[in-house]
Amino acid sequence: MKKTVLVSGGAGFIGSHVTVELAQAGYDVVIADNFSNCDRTNYDGVCRILGKKMPLVEMDFCDAKAVDKLFDDYKIDACIHFAAYKAVGESVAEPLMYYRNNLLSFINILDQAHKRGLNVLFSSSATVYGEPEHLPVTEKSPRQPATSPYGNTKQMCEDFLRDSVAAYPGVKGIALRYFNPIGAHPSALIGELPRGVPNNLVPFITQTAIGKRECLSIFGNDYPTPDGTCQRDYIDIVDLAKAHVCAVARMLDGKMKKPYEVFNVGTGRPVSVMELVTAFEKVNGLKLNYKFAPRRAGDVTAIWADPTLANEDLGWKAERSVEETLAAAWAWEKRLAGK
Ligand code: WQD
Repeated sequence: MKKTVLVSGGAGFIGSHVTVELAQAGYDVVIADNFSNCDRTNYDGVCRILGKKMPLVEMDFCDAKAVDKLFDDYKIDACIHFAAYKAVGESVAEPLMYYRNNLLSFINILDQAHKRGLNVLFSSSATVYGEPEHLPVTEKSPRQPATSPYGNTKQMCEDFLRDSVAAYPGVKGIALRYFNPIGAHPSALIGELPRGVPNNLVPFITQTAIGKRECLSIFGNDYPTPDGTCQRDYIDIVDLAKAHVCAVARMLDGKMKKPYEVFNVGTGRPVSVMELVTAFEKVNGLKLNYKFAPRRAGDVTAIWADPTLANEDLGWKAERSVEETLAAAWAWEKRLAGK
């Protein structure tokens, strides 16, 4: 009997890639999204990749009645929760919008888990580690006080899941702490679709290369790192999506060691902004227009994962090279531009 996975926010960048990998791994998938933060490009791309019209429920997870109806209409075996706002800077300007949307939507899902017994996979973030004292970070590394309401909602939702698992029988949970998701599907039919000016590095790079942006500003080249620019753990979006399939299987196949588990999902390889720009130019055979600019408030100097636990317990390992990822990101940007 095929298991059914609900992907909340499934029309988004990460949700769409996870939907493809889940379907290709043999799961039935229900996508639910209110399209507040994306258009239908990725949903249409998912249907093209999978060769079928995927079940789609257009709804807002802040609407408890709509959430209850969704779980009445579909027999859900596991839920992956992506539906949230995710722009760090915007969250500082609009904290209540972030707290209301990101916390209430997850509480509504946890209410269903409490009512029906459910496996819940939460999309968390390495941002919970703040500026780590020791590198690489493991799951035991201390969470630092959040530096943005966005980061705070990630920490609070991890705690909501942890406490719900402890209190309500039949609820199991995994939090995946992503490092920096980048890239696009090799088909170039789904990828990152930032609204307006991209906050994140790779979409700004590809939009500069395609001519949508004049020049990339590299925020700070005076950090205490080998080349003076910040270091991150950039993880290919398809590798990241496959980690979700491993986590769903772990929950549904009864392989969890504890009812609540946390995994770092990263490559374990630090890459600096300058290294990423240089790799992008090399693999795509182009020169990027960039300049050094002052540091961006809130940036951490360096963070990268110790992915041992995910490698060993999830049976998952990042496989794609940063060059492959940047080539896919560029192919996606060119397709968006109709090239
Ligand atoms: C990476 C590096 C910038 C843009 C955030 C969130 C994380 C996740 C991913 C949502 C930094 C530099 C960037 C630019 C630059 N959130 N940069 N010029 O800040 O590590 O992580 O996004 O999905 O939870 O915290 O990612 O891509 O914004 O920045 O120099 O135009 O690139 O200073 O050093 P970040 P990022």
